[in-house]
Amino acid sequence: MKATAIKAAKEAGKIILRYYSKNVNATSKGDTYNLVTEADLASENKIISIIKSRFPDHSLLTEESGEEIHKSDYCWVIDPLDGTNNFYHKFPMFCVSIALYKKGKPLIGVVFDPLKKELFFAEKNRGAFLNNKKINVSNVNKLNKSLLVLGFYYERGLLMRKSLGQMKKFFYENVHGIRRTGSAALDLCYTACGRFDGYWELKLNPWDFAAGSLIITEAGGRITDAQGKRYSLMMKNVAASNGKIHKHMLKILNE
Ligand code: IPD
Ligand code: CA
Ligand code: CA
Repeated sequence: MKATAIKAAKEAGKIILRYYSKNVNATSKGDTYNLVTEADLASENKIISIIKSRFPDHSLLTEESGEEIHKSDYCWVIDPLDGTNNFYHKFPMFCVSIALYKKGKPLIGVVFDPLKKELFFAEKNRGAFLNNKKINVSNVNKLNKSLLVLGFYYERGLLMRKSLGQMKKFFYENVHGIRRTGSAALDLCYTACGRFDGYWELKLNPWDFAAGSLIITEAGGRITDAQGKRYSLMMKNVAASNGKIHKHMLKILNE
């Protein structure tokens, strides 16, 4: 299953790169800013065909084609291109995210950035890796020594205002900086390997964080929802960190 997850992510990455060198068409899915391109669809088809050829009985939860439920303990959760907006604008920050869940619990997570050739991988109780090298979260234990990252969903109303307000409060805590990369899966992986110390986002879908959540916990970090409730694939928002600044982050997010 590990080999399948990695192969699917790498093959999908190749497809995405082929589209990256051309001009792709994008259509919007509901919200004006929520784009889908031919690359998202081609990547997803490739991943599904690789998984189905090896595990035809497993269930699937995918961003572009929805759910395919089978009587199986296993479910693959797939974001074929995380960071579509970046990809469309040729901003070099996007990835493929594939997770395997067993009875609702994460077993395997793979996030592949095809441009930088960075493959993040984790398996339950076996640690987290970047290109086969073990990774760990940072040791930063104070907000005023941290670099944070946040994401904004596509809505520009209440949640956007709330996120901006939270951002302001973190700046008042004298954080070193706050970034917005445009790829939730990479935000989690970058926190897992210590490039960021904490990440939050107020609205997400399961495929955005299904793989990254395992990668961050296996790297020694922590992930809850933005209120501090225990991790679940069905949660609607995320707070993730190196663990050391988690409590303080939650306090700021909820005050
Ligand atoms: C989006 C990205 C972005 C996050 C959005 C996601 P997509 O995924 O992860 O960073 O802020 O909430 O929807 O649409 O590019 O797969
Ligand atoms: Ca996504
Ligand atoms: Ca996507």
